[in-house]
Amino acid sequence: MHLPRGIAMALGATSLMAFASPFLAEIPAARAAVAEAGAGAAHPDMWPTRTATVARDPAVERRVDALIAAMSLEQKVGQIIQADIASVTPDDVYHYHLGSVLNGGNSDPGGRYNAPAKDWLAAADAFYAASMKPDGKLPRIPVMWGSDAVHGHNNVVGATLFPHNIGLGAARNPDLVRRIGAATAIEMRVTGLDWTFAPTLAVVRDDRWGRTYEGFGETPEIAASYAAPLIEGLQGRIGDKDWLRGPHIIATAKHFLGDGGTAGGKDQGDARMPEAQLRDLFSPPYLPALDAGVQSVMVSFSSWNGAKMHGNGSLLTGVMKERWNFDGFLVGDWNGHGQVAGCTTTDCPQSAIAGLDMYMAPDSWKELYRTTLAHARDGTLPVTRLDDAVRRILRVKVRAGLFEAGKPSSRPYGGQFDLLGSREHRALAREAVRESLVLLKNAGGLLPLKPGANVLVAGDGADNLTKQTGGWTLSWQGTGTKRSDFPNAQSIWEGIDADVRAAGGSATLAVDGHYVRKPDVAIVVFGEDPYAEFQGDRPDVGYDDAKNLALLRSLKAAGVPTVAVFLSGRAMWVNPFLNASDAFVAAWLPGSEGGGVADVLFGKADFRGKLPYSWPRSSDQTDVNVGDADYDPLFPYGFGLTFADKGDLAPVPEERANAAAADPGLLFAAGKPGKGRSLLLGAPGALSTNPGPDLIEARAADRAAQEDSVRLRWTGAGPAVAAIVQDTPVDLSRQANGDLALELELKVDAPPSAGVSLLMGCGARCAGGFPIRPVLAEAAKTGKWTRIAVPLRCFEKAGVDMTRVETPLSLATSGTLDLILSAARIVSPSGPQLACK
Ligand code: BGC
Ligand code: BGC
Repeated sequence: MHLPRGIAMALGATSLMAFASPFLAEIPAARAAVAEAGAGAAHPDMWPTRTATVARDPAVERRVDALIAAMSLEQKVGQIIQADIASVTPDDVYHYHLGSVLNGGNSDPGGRYNAPAKDWLAAADAFYAASMKPDGKLPRIPVMWGSDAVHGHNNVVGATLFPHNIGLGAARNPDLVRRIGAATAIEMRVTGLDWTFAPTLAVVRDDRWGRTYEGFGETPEIAASYAAPLIEGLQGRIGDKDWLRGPHIIATAKHFLGDGGTAGGKDQGDARMPEAQLRDLFSPPYLPALDAGVQSVMVSFSSWNGAKMHGNGSLLTGVMKERWNFDGFLVGDWNGHGQVAGCTTTDCPQSAIAGLDMYMAPDSWKELYRTTLAHARDGTLPVTRLDDAVRRILRVKVRAGLFEAGKPSSRPYGGQFDLLGSREHRALAREAVRESLVLLKNAGGLLPLKPGANVLVAGDGADNLTKQTGGWTLSWQGTGTKRSDFPNAQSIWEGIDADVRAAGGSATLAVDGHYVRKPDVAIVVFGEDPYAEFQGDRPDVGYDDAKNLALLRSLKAAGVPTVAVFLSGRAMWVNPFLNASDAFVAAWLPGSEGGGVADVLFGKADFRGKLPYSWPRSSDQTDVNVGDADYDPLFPYGFGLTFADKGDLAPVPEERANAAAADPGLLFAAGKPGKGRSLLLGAPGALSTNPGPDLIEARAADRAAQEDSVRLRWTGAGPAVAAIVQDTPVDLSRQANGDLALELELKVDAPPSAGVSLLMGCGARCAGGFPIRPVLAEAAKTGKWTRIAVPLRCFEKAGVDMTRVETPLSLATSGTLDLILSAARIVSPSGPQLACK
């Protein structure tokens, strides 16, 4: 369902006025620019020096110089901009001379999250062809395509999915990650892509962070030991003939700098610490990465001492380029430049001036191109800096042989689809799973299990590839996938079943744990649902899961020995689960090869994994790190039992420290507003919980359960509003930048008799929204439950200040209307959305 283009524009100002007076107008002239004088200025001479390991090839430099001399200014500006395939066409790449495209986590060829591999290759060919199409005398410069292949080529159906970095960190095996890099590069080549936004070299200090699993661990040592082998696996070795080409691709070290050190583990937050600490904790992995020849570095969304990295010249230029002699290019993160003080996503010369070489401007590229061109013309962006950025990008393209490579499908491995999830790659992934598992408890030496046993497999993670593969899998959040999206994969249950059957035993799957014949042992697989980035930020590290806890306890009560297999993207407080199980395995996010779990549980291999993150003693022990003065985790960094160890564990306290804080995305569900929010009704400007029935009334209604919804009925006696109002304003700017949407589930029983507005409010005289009468009228016709999703960015465009939303949802009309609302959420949308432009 799409709103006709222009509707929002046409109606925005006038019709909203009538209903929205309590919220409206006077949108702050500009967001107050934070004064950052002095904050975040580094002293490069405090940082180690580094000599370049990639020799400057005079032939490459001459060629780049010649290209630059022949390029138009427009072409140079286009070269430093990267657009997302959801918002750019091959034609655009041609006309705007764009240097690069990417697919964000939710962007896929044809807009299908499970688009077949051949569609990826065809899209790569189309973008390449557009970049090479003749254009007068201008030199032709091949486009490069970047993708987050962060645990294998995870955006593509059928690819091998390796354990997320947290599991690889547990393996402590640099040779393993080298081979994983090489396999990932080949699978990317199959689909015609030449550049991965990996590895993440974050040193993660607070496990509340939603990207904890993207980091290898809490110390700089693990990431530092992995950086070079992984990058060499991906890119090949400096000096080799197939460096950056053939079976190899271009890698990215990210996110520079301090991404894992933000206060409170907040994604895109602020690392508040002295310079020496920033240097000593977070920068060590970058040195081996540079020494191994990594050709791009992604700038972090985060800040250091209040100043956004995307504007930090002292670190981007002073340290990375000058002190460390990095001669590849710095790519930005998803509209990250827009967060620099004084910038917007479409206008930010500050970032390039600070040292950014390529803007990641997914949807903002066109307007950014226009403003950047203007800045280049008037000298705001000095041409020397522009040329330097272009030179760095071209240097990498020449080094990678892109000018000679031909169209992606004609390059080595292009179109060899049987290499996606090949037997060899899957065997490697299975080996990685075996090495990643950490055994935390093994009472009475329950493990290894006898493969001839009668085994019950239970828990909602047992046969669940969505959970097992985690975020950054086919979709950004890793949610919304189904079994058939994983043709080359084995769930943990499938792996156990195969191993046990091969050994003459019998295994039974019952997610809820029921059984007829009492099993010899039960394996219960459970854990976190997938998430990515800030969507995964948590108020603490307590793991709550009443269902699987009850399951473990009932099995124990029945005298069945239990093995808990815990899937998670971080170390979590699981004390009640530890008490309720005889053996406990931290399995992280293992990826496509569930068989690797079976191999170890049944003793084909011993446990080798060691904790890459200290395991918390309480649910509020969120930032416990080895080396802390008062270090007191439940299991220390480096802990991990083997079969030979005595694995008993005395009962641990079960009291949970923190109650979970409000979920920023939950506006209304289960018949009531989300925590920290109220449902208010009434005439504009006079909202209350219970205004009397004259204008509008709210009554509990049923959808799937008793009173799980609310019926809202507008009488038509005058303008009236139903709104979800915050107790305290909420900052939804990251959610808006992350392409999240306001999603409503409703059923319209009587169509609107007049215009209806869907609004968000941001304090006195600050609001914006859209007319949605046509959508509601349409829903009334079907009489069915309808899902309506509006991108948050549309509200931003309509004038809402996303940094201080007070009313995340309001519906206003002066006509009659009767609808039932069952849910309102801010989510990463999994279906069609209304268009706002
Ligand atoms: C993430 C990056 C990622 C990029 C492109 C950003 O939001 O922070 O890690 O590479 O999106 O998907
Ligand atoms: C994209 C991700 C990106 C994120 C930024 C999502 O919509 O798909 O790739 O990292 O937005 O927050």
